[in-house]
Amino acid sequence: MTDAKTGKTLTLKKKTVAAGDNPEGERRKRAGGRARQVAQLDRQREQQRSMTPDPRPSSLPQPTTGTGTGTGTGTGTTPAPRKPSAERNRYPGEPIPERQPNSYAEQDAFRSKPGARRAAATPRAEIFPVFTPCPQGLEDALVAEMQALGFDDAVPARAGCRFHTDWTGILRANLYSRLATRVLVEVAYGPVQHEDDILDLALDTPWERWFGAEQTLRVDTSAIRSPMQSLQYCNLRVKDGICDRLRDREGERPSIDTVRPDARVHLFLTEDSATLYLDTSGESLFKRGWRMEKGEAPLRENLAAGILALSGWDPSQALMDPFCGSGTILIEGAWIALGVPAGIWRPFGFERLRNHDARHWRDLKDEARSRIAPRLESPIVGYDLDPSAIEAAKSNLDRAWLTPGTIRFEVGDARSAPPAADSGWLVTNPPYGERLPSEQDTGLWREWAQNLKQNYSDWNVSIISSDMDLPKALRLKPLRRYPLYNGALDCRLFSFEMVAAGYRQK
Ligand SMILES: C[S@@+](CC[C@H](N)C(=O)[O-])C[C@H]1O[C@@H](n2cnc3c(N)ncnc32)[C@H](O)[C@@H]1O
Repeated sequence: MTDAKTGKTLTLKKKTVAAGDNPEGERRKRAGGRARQVAQLDRQREQQRSMTPDPRPSSLPQPTTGTGTGTGTGTGTTPAPRKPSAERNRYPGEPIPERQPNSYAEQDAFRSKPGARRAAATPRAEIFPVFTPCPQGLEDALVAEMQALGFDDAVPARAGCRFHTDWTGILRANLYSRLATRVLVEVAYGPVQHEDDILDLALDTPWERWFGAEQTLRVDTSAIRSPMQSLQYCNLRVKDGICDRLRDREGERPSIDTVRPDARVHLFLTEDSATLYLDTSGESLFKRGWRMEKGEAPLRENLAAGILALSGWDPSQALMDPFCGSGTILIEGAWIALGVPAGIWRPFGFERLRNHDARHWRDLKDEARSRIAPRLESPIVGYDLDPSAIEAAKSNLDRAWLTPGTIRFEVGDARSAPPAADSGWLVTNPPYGERLPSEQDTGLWREWAQNLKQNYSDWNVSIISSDMDLPKALRLKPLRRYPLYNGALDCRLFSFEMVAAGYRQK
């Protein structure tokens, strides 16, 4: 069992105050500051380890140093020698190795499938353009996270961010990003006016580097203002181009599997261009591998991590969610505070590609595991009125490899829930207005606000809601409001600072 109040294992630099008087720049820094800080902490630990000699045999590809391209791997990550699993550092609740979904045996079995070919190893210095999509509203926070992971040229893009990196950087982005939904490698781009141009683009792309007939394939298509008549037909043109090329070169074509494909390709169309992306993530990155119990209207894990980043939560401080549902915000918070990489327990699409170097990947993961802190520095506490939601949260906690004491989940009413510490962060996703009858709704907000004003002085409060009038119902004026999308739902993250006399206004 973990005693959440003991131990001083996590040291974070104090949040830097943005200089400058540009309000937009200031907002950007604030939006991404916490994500940057958390990712920087991970990177510092990684850099410290890179001072030790590389134990890998010289026959393995060696890390590049100082490419000066901002690829995120210039530090030359140095993996720790692999320990037997029983000796590896564990975080609370990690004791059952067979629960690991991403078993090496399964991968080895896959690679020894008849017909499996190994592509030439991807040259360590080869740089790829990368696009990482994210929930809308988290772009700046994602850029900050990617820059902190070492992808220095990361810039915001529509619902995502772009940067350049080598293959190791692509593995690291998948492993560490808490905010990205996928890591897509741009493999082809060209002007298109007709569906046949898409076929030609797919025919000219060297897919055989990544996959062949021994893999199954899925293609997805999305578009903005594309004049093409049928996106389904465009999708088919990509599949035809890929399959024709592979059949011509290797004698066989991959079969299509839309449910559990080995390789995924995304086509993105604009008014006059097409981009083909190789998806290195497989399943969306918000699927960390721990959620089975969904509860009522759960947040996606990367949105929960994004909200924590925008709230400015300092992971060494107390965290509360008084409407915790299945516990998404708090479980993400515990992983952040302990330094558990978001993708440590899940499989990735790149593991099924021809160029996959399983040994290098194991080294990266072992090294990431070795930096997980054994315990939290401050309490993390959740309440929900619904006992079945608390049961769901506890099951999710267990699946997230955390011991029961890591997060205190209790049945309780937000209107009377006591603060978990003298100060801290309350980050929550309360029930949406339409789920509550209006009188109950007004009563709930008034009584909850009263509890906050009376008992939560020195707490930072961040609330995500699709109800734009929520601050009015709470009779609190937000210091900041961040536009965010929860799926298709237009939301705001409202931030308040409670002070002894009530709350701080703008
Ligand atoms: C939108 S859901 C939260 C979902 C959660 N973020 C997740 O990812 O699972 C809102 C939760 O508030 C709970 N709730 C409603 N009224 C409450 C109250 N007065 N006190 C505590 N919880 C309450 C509901 O039972 C529901 O689980």
